[in-house]
Amino acid sequence: MIRNEELEAVLETIDLRNDAPIEEPMRQYYFIKKAREIVNAESEKLGRRLTADEETFGCQMNAKDSEKLIGILENIGFEMMDDESADLVFYNTCTVRDNANQRVYGRLGLIHSMKKKNPHKKVALCGCMMQEPTVIEKIQKSYPFVDLVFGTHNIYKFAELIVSMYNSDKMIIDIWEDTDKIVEDLPAERKYSFKSGVNIMYGCNNYCSYCIVPYVRGRERSRNPKDIIREIEKLVSEGVVEVMLLGQNVNSYGKNLEEPMTFAQLLKEVEKIEGLERIRFMTSHPKDLSDDLIQVMKDSKKICRHLHLPLQAGSTRILEAMNRRYTKEQYLELAAKIRREIPDISLTTDIIVGFPGETAADVDETIDVVRKVQYDNAFTFIYSRRTGTPAATMPNPVSEEEIKANFDRLLEVVHETAKSRVGRLLGETHSVLVEESSGTQLSGRLSNNTLVHFEGDAVLVGTIVDVKLTEAHGFYYIGKINMQEHRLEELLQKCRHRELPEEKML
Ligand code: 5AD
Ligand code: SF4
Repeated sequence: MIRNEELEAVLETIDLRNDAPIEEPMRQYYFIKKAREIVNAESEKLGRRLTADEETFGCQMNAKDSEKLIGILENIGFEMMDDESADLVFYNTCTVRDNANQRVYGRLGLIHSMKKKNPHKKVALCGCMMQEPTVIEKIQKSYPFVDLVFGTHNIYKFAELIVSMYNSDKMIIDIWEDTDKIVEDLPAERKYSFKSGVNIMYGCNNYCSYCIVPYVRGRERSRNPKDIIREIEKLVSEGVVEVMLLGQNVNSYGKNLEEPMTFAQLLKEVEKIEGLERIRFMTSHPKDLSDDLIQVMKDSKKICRHLHLPLQAGSTRILEAMNRRYTKEQYLELAAKIRREIPDISLTTDIIVGFPGETAADVDETIDVVRKVQYDNAFTFIYSRRTGTPAATMPNPVSEEEIKANFDRLLEVVHETAKSRVGRLLGETHSVLVEESSGTQLSGRLSNNTLVHFEGDAVLVGTIVDVKLTEAHGFYYIGKINMQEHRLEELLQKCRHRELPEEKML
């Protein structure tokens, strides 16, 4: 991340008559300047600013990537809007399950008719789905009106790709199979002023047999801890109070660094950052969750009381076929240990139903784990066959009827346990980070990630307040601000006089 003024100073020194530099990020600064010229010229032709619309599918990693892409677009002169009639529409795609792919194809159908009416409209596709060769073939054949296609490894090149796109009337395709490159110091636009995702690593080396992520996000690469800390310090100086450290498997952070470092050690460093109030992270693979991490969480004042610990399946036989590298018993032991050490923690999970060969008895094992672990929430997915993964060629696909019956059975227990877990704090007062407002209705999250709705002044968005949880409603609470009059008044005054950052962080 680079500040606006720093970037402008560098851009001043760039002479576009020279060739583009080879080194990054200088090369991208050069193309940012070049793209600005193009966008300006187009805007002059149209007599208005060029507009852009982004649609992001999938996980927090993609959301974070989109912030970087939007940062570049705004910097080169586009005005963002939330409407596909924009001059440039980009889809940041997901391919973890097939329904995400189908949604993108559906949207492209609509865009085609819009593009016929507006020939200068540009369409760009990026993200995980684009890393699949069969997808690229299909786009070339069935959606030839698309202007730009790029993948997950080269999003930092967006300015350069935009320049190529405006200089060509053919589809530009730039997909890299893998990369060991991490480019720092590029512009990024943040969706929220008070919380932010922070990538700590990219890719995944686990090769769970159903999962396409290692093929589309590449092998695991950790960011240098100094860059991570520097980014968080900058975010905090801009008013961020909560960070979510992002990685496909944060528990294996640091293994490939020149000076190896564990995730637990990184957390200790992040904890030291003054002004930062809350630390979250996503996602933890149970096989790599260390005792050190549990200890660091236990001792921490800032790490939130929430752990997302994907189970995927409760049957050891299925777990083995999934290549998860833990048994049902090991998972249960781990969950029990975490609960023993950090009793107020909330555990959430991901579960897949319908993996090849999964029987009703296997799903009984999953239900047994849900009952024993008592998750606060579980995201349940129907298995989706992903071409190229080992599971795609496994025998014994499960019939749709069986999947539906098993899925419904599982969901019932998930709801039951979640309801009793989530309600356990009823009547207590806890701190809530206020995230949204609608009139005087505020919504925020507890440290354990449960949603709370309560009455209050909209200026409190972005601050942490004490709320008494007065009603439990399944997955959320209704509450009431419960702070001493003078403390609340002090906070309100501070919020009302909160200086808006003079210049926006890019
Ligand atoms: N089918 C269904 N769900 C999947 N997930 C990953 N791959 C698949 C698949 N092929 C789920 C896993 C993972 C979550 C992000 O998506 O549960 O934890
Ligand atoms: Fe996919 Fe497994 Fe990696 Fe998660 S840990 S991204 S499920 S391969």
